[in-house]
Amino acid sequence: MNAKTMFGCSTLLLWIFLSRPLAALAAEVNYDEAKVGNYTLPDPLRLEDGRWVTNASMWLRLRRPEILEQFQREVYGRFLPRPAEVRFLPMQEPKPALEGRAIRRDIQMEITGAFQGTAMTFTLYLPSNANKPAPIFLGVHLFDTAREYPLPAVARRLPGSKRPTEAENVASGRQVANQILERGYGLASVNIQHLAPDSATNYQSGVLRLLGRAREGVVSPDESGALGVWAWGLSRVLDYLETLPEVNARRVVVIGHSRMGKTALWAAAHDERFAIAIANCSGCAGAALSRRNYGETLAIITQAFPFWFGGRLAAYANRVDALPVDQHELIALIAPRPVYIASAVEDRWADPKGEFLAAWHAEPVYQLLNAGGLGVATQPAADHPVGDTIGYHLRSGQHDLTDYDWQQYLHFVDRQFGRLMP
Ligand code: GCU
Repeated sequence: MNAKTMFGCSTLLLWIFLSRPLAALAAEVNYDEAKVGNYTLPDPLRLEDGRWVTNASMWLRLRRPEILEQFQREVYGRFLPRPAEVRFLPMQEPKPALEGRAIRRDIQMEITGAFQGTAMTFTLYLPSNANKPAPIFLGVHLFDTAREYPLPAVARRLPGSKRPTEAENVASGRQVANQILERGYGLASVNIQHLAPDSATNYQSGVLRLLGRAREGVVSPDESGALGVWAWGLSRVLDYLETLPEVNARRVVVIGHSRMGKTALWAAAHDERFAIAIANCSGCAGAALSRRNYGETLAIITQAFPFWFGGRLAAYANRVDALPVDQHELIALIAPRPVYIASAVEDRWADPKGEFLAAWHAEPVYQLLNAGGLGVATQPAADHPVGDTIGYHLRSGQHDLTDYDWQQYLHFVDRQFGRLMP
């Protein structure tokens, strides 16, 4: 199973089928740019008390914490604390994989102390012939950890052509995995089964229960939703990576597709140890501006997936202008670290233009921090990647993480690590 088949539109279709009000909302989805409507975005460089943020220190000391707090309170729920006592246990001996190109480790994270149990499992492939500590691409469900071979991409579907077969996807995934490893990167993927299952009725059965935070009923206003628990899991993998001499933990790229793209952005916004963030087709409550009425809206997502978020977000469903933040500020929280936002032409549900505009509206914060930015003011044509420290492309084709996307990410990350990082 790849990210697409696990998390594609089938979930949404199911929800539409099960829920009449949601079906009604989905039937009214706007795909007409002329009907997007007017909106005013909150200014990332203006404090709640009205003062302008005029230097890096004001951003870091005053405005950044303010926005981070608003995202926790109103959007994703509170970030869970790092548990005091944990153990990372190998589930088996590290073993050679991918025709000797990599060493595979499967790890189980246990919480010990007052609350005890398995918090999550994850899989790590490290390049076997590395002569220096490896930077890592880390994501939730970046590949299916049950497979012998990671499948970090699906074959690119050209407009008008048939869907790629399983064999084509496997071939494409192998090729991408090999390239990632040959360029010296490792790959790590979190499995959410123990962490927080992707289900309204079960998402609290993992870490939230283990930490004594599960509640009756679906969503608690002050508790992290599932996206926040997944993001917490990414931070915990980073804790583990920091203990491995074979890994350069200052060069961990957090990456995700679709709902896991939303998760990657939230993880990087919160945890400044992530060096770079990449959000592929992350859409509503990911990179796309919530105030644009195009494709999926907060009204739809909070009805279809209320448990992904903190309990207060749904209150903004029909008054999105009252939300104190918008998604360009989520990207701005990642500054000055490099970030890449990617869209796909046929992925109108995710609002490609809204994803581009959020990247663009984050740029003033990068500039304030003297950290470059996006460098263009209009959305580029399909398959023309742009950007500096904020990368962006609009790929032709559908809602997928493809080999084309990976080529851009590898190029971007090589460039950023080459020039920016020690
Ligand atoms: C649904 C949901 C999106 C999400 C996507 C996915 O389509 O509405 O917000 O990004 O699933 O994760 O595949």
